[in-house]
Amino acid sequence: MNDKATTHAHAKAAASVAPAISSAPATDPAPALAWSVLPAKRTHTCGDLRAGGAGERAILQGWVHRRRDHGGLIFIDLRDRYGLTQLVFNPAISAEAHALASTLRSEYVISIEGTVNLRPAGTENPHLPTGEIEVAVQRAVLLNPSKTPPFYVNEDVPVEESLRLKYRYLDLRRQRLRDNIMLRHRAVKFMRDFLDARGFVEVETPILTRSTPEGARDFLVPSRLHPAEFYALPQAPQQFKQLLMVAGMDRYFQIARCFRDEDQRADRQPEFTQLDLEMAFVDEADVTGVIEDLHSELVKRLSHKRLLVQPFPRISYAEAMERYGTDRPDLRFGLELVDVTHLLGTSGFGVFRSAAERGGMIKGIKAPGCANWSRREIDQVTQLARSFGAKGLATAAWTEEGIRSPFRQHVGDEVMARLQQAFDARTGDLIALVADKPAVANEVLHRLRDHLGVQLGLADPNALAFCWVVDFPLLEWDEDRSSWTFTHNPFCAPKDTDLVLLDTDPGRALSKQYDLICNGYEVGGGSVRIHTRPLQEKIFRLMGHSDEQIAAQFGTILEAFEYGAPPHGGIATGVDRLIAILASEDTIREAIAFPKNQAAADLMMGAPSPVSEDQLAELHIRTVPPK
Ligand code: AMO
Ligand code: AMP
Repeated sequence: MNDKATTHAHAKAAASVAPAISSAPATDPAPALAWSVLPAKRTHTCGDLRAGGAGERAILQGWVHRRRDHGGLIFIDLRDRYGLTQLVFNPAISAEAHALASTLRSEYVISIEGTVNLRPAGTENPHLPTGEIEVAVQRAVLLNPSKTPPFYVNEDVPVEESLRLKYRYLDLRRQRLRDNIMLRHRAVKFMRDFLDARGFVEVETPILTRSTPEGARDFLVPSRLHPAEFYALPQAPQQFKQLLMVAGMDRYFQIARCFRDEDQRADRQPEFTQLDLEMAFVDEADVTGVIEDLHSELVKRLSHKRLLVQPFPRISYAEAMERYGTDRPDLRFGLELVDVTHLLGTSGFGVFRSAAERGGMIKGIKAPGCANWSRREIDQVTQLARSFGAKGLATAAWTEEGIRSPFRQHVGDEVMARLQQAFDARTGDLIALVADKPAVANEVLHRLRDHLGVQLGLADPNALAFCWVVDFPLLEWDEDRSSWTFTHNPFCAPKDTDLVLLDTDPGRALSKQYDLICNGYEVGGGSVRIHTRPLQEKIFRLMGHSDEQIAAQFGTILEAFEYGAPPHGGIATGVDRLIAILASEDTIREAIAFPKNQAAADLMMGAPSPVSEDQLAELHIRTVPPK
């Protein structure tokens, strides 16, 4: 909007319009100090008023978002959670209100009373729902002043994150976080309604509980009443929800807070929220069906993003690793990896041959249209690949002038032609190869693929590509412990057809696990469970637990299985991750009202913090400071 035009139009309007309500009597002093009580209740929020309300009297309360002083007239955008409303302070209407307005600054809290007017022609703001009107202020009261905020609340400018976290209550006043928190509220409300309508019962499970092996480190809480004993905060309500199935609850869900003492990443927090559910008498398709319907419906109702594929594709773990190098592939784009070990493993290029001889693989990715990358650009991706764990990156570019590649003369023209075929490379394309152990090659290429997807503009930020990854191995070999360990959790059932493998070749047994992936993020994971004592005990033994350990750690659930446990299965999805994806945020911190920082600290409240000697003594605890 043009401020000059506004002022001019208003000057004319002010001269011709008599005040609808006489200004406050002279005996009513404009308070210099903030009022401790509300002068009156608001009649509208700052997002309510429309052209249809012209002529009405309105009382509004909120924060000074922006003030423009045009000498004669003062304009203030008044803000609350619901929106912005333009206020006009005209000395001809109320000298007192105008005088107060000239002292107001950003984030002051005020109450005003005035008349709703149509904005003068040409000064409407089509970007604002209240943009057709303004309120001519007759009375104004300061409710509370504000110190100058440490960052602009009224602008979406980048602010150092630690400052945002320390003043989170101010950050939450800004549009971006407010929108994210509102989206989160609506999404969680949707989940509750959706599941309630399908017979699910929300049950709260304990926060103070016993440590259960979900794969991460526990947060422990010392017990005052039981010296030297500890509660653990739940990593997930896994055993409780299974026990609820034994209890006959049939369909359980919970918006569950979970706690894991892990290293922080962009998509991890020490406390986070799951949509956790469990169902009795079901197979994999029943659980994934409910979750798929829920997410499809949620996206359609609450998001402007479009679902790329429905029904969600199902990919086996093995296929995901082969084609994308990861079990959480971003399916918004192709760029599939190609294994060319058979072509290059015996070639004259030492890097390739020695990798293959040591049991490694040679795998690569095609960067379409990138054959003209400069030396510097190739060095940059090579550096990037190194930062992902690669020893190097071998490239080949098919240009108008021929093939540009450091290994071309070592492998010969015939192999180069077959390589080109394997990648379906056209003139203008570049391929990048990694020769390494499969785990390293896949990790590097998967991260390179995600990088290229964004760099080449292939990862549509407005699209959501959900998929299910299934057929996970049940167990993986743990070198450190020299025994099998679970890949998802120890309660996951093996595939019926693979039960026999538990005795012969446990590493080949596949499980009834399913992971929900969206745009390269693991949004959820779950499984059909073991529900009989003998099989559950067998799995624990395979994992190297002694009978004593099994009895001590899992005695309760094993005993419960002996009292008529129904077949059951479930899943948990990360609410914070889903909201971050829907809101196009890079970190889940933007989806959480009061998150911890990368060092797991709450900068606003100052947690964690030392406690008094008395508190420690009560808990029978003495601390040993680190060296
Ligand atoms: P899992 O450990 O896979 O499964 O967790 C399920 C989902 O929770 C989210 N998530 C996290 N979000 C933020 N910060 C974290 N630190 C974090 N860790 C996990 C992810 C993940 O997909 N009890 C089982 C579920 C089951 O088998 O039913 C479980 O917790 O989105
Ligand atoms: P070097 O023999 O280390 O000088 O590497 C020769 C070329 O091969 C360089 O372009 C390296 O980036 C590349 N290279 C080295 N190691 C690997 C590897 N493990 N995988 C793919 N390319 C590699």
